[in-house]
Amino acid sequence: MTDPHRSPAQVRSDIAHNARVWNHWLGGKDNYPIDRAVGDHVTSMYPSIGEVARADRAFLGRVVRYLTGDVGIGQFLDIGTGLPTADNTHEVAQRTAPATRVVYVDNDPTVLAHARALLAGSPEGATEYIDADARHPEQILRGVEPTLDLKKPVAVMMLGILNFVLDTDEARKIVGTLMDAMPSGSYLVLTHPTLELGGEGNEAAMRFWNENATPPITARSRAEFATFLEGLELVEPGIVSCALWRAGPGATQVAQFGAVARKR
Ligand SMILES: C[S@@+](CC[C@H](N)C(=O)[O-])C[C@H]1O[C@@H](n2cnc3c(N)ncnc32)[C@H](O)[C@@H]1O
Repeated sequence: MTDPHRSPAQVRSDIAHNARVWNHWLGGKDNYPIDRAVGDHVTSMYPSIGEVARADRAFLGRVVRYLTGDVGIGQFLDIGTGLPTADNTHEVAQRTAPATRVVYVDNDPTVLAHARALLAGSPEGATEYIDADARHPEQILRGVEPTLDLKKPVAVMMLGILNFVLDTDEARKIVGTLMDAMPSGSYLVLTHPTLELGGEGNEAAMRFWNENATPPITARSRAEFATFLEGLELVEPGIVSCALWRAGPGATQVAQFGAVARKR
């Protein structure tokens, strides 16, 4: 499904795009030389970025298993999906609960081109892809209607995406509009880069990114991140490095917050 409010975006192979560079950091092959060059330069400045990407995906896996297995959530809205990789949300969820329904949303034309791989869900469940910008949450909410039943709890996943909405008030409004539309018992799952959890070279690497790649990114403090979760009930252990959220022994911190919260 495509967003009629967006002009058709072209795949640009001359400028690094976040979805493709993220794919490169995760060891994927769906990227261009410019993505690899910019991604490798970022790694030379901020050596733990690959670890951040892997920790973020591992967090996704642990959270989706917790929400499907322990909580019984049967519907996911995954905004800022990224390119298909190992253990996408529907695969993790449908392994535990085959009837899980998942809607993916991204605005990157390369993700759209690969969306078919995201849609091969279990026969009992359903997966849908919406080509839309997170800045238009009402459009997304209209788009999910055929697939998700908004009278039943939904887990709204926004992993590594609010950092591309540079204005904090706008980001808060997006989260608010989405969560207002969800019934009680729904969940919000977030990850977000920060300069408060170490990560040598992170700040300079972000400056380099903003001069050489797209879309522009920002880090946020714990206090700013916490405002996205206001009014919701934080699930233990609260706001932590995503690498440490319900992780096994030996897990080490990365400079990316992760949190899961429940709507009362
Ligand atoms: C860092 S990747 C994270 C991918 C995945 N959520 C994960 O955690 O592995 C961010 C994704 O958000 C998408 N994105 C960035 N800005 C967006 C926007 N305004 N609307 C929709 N998607 C956006 C990018 O195209 C990219 O695929």
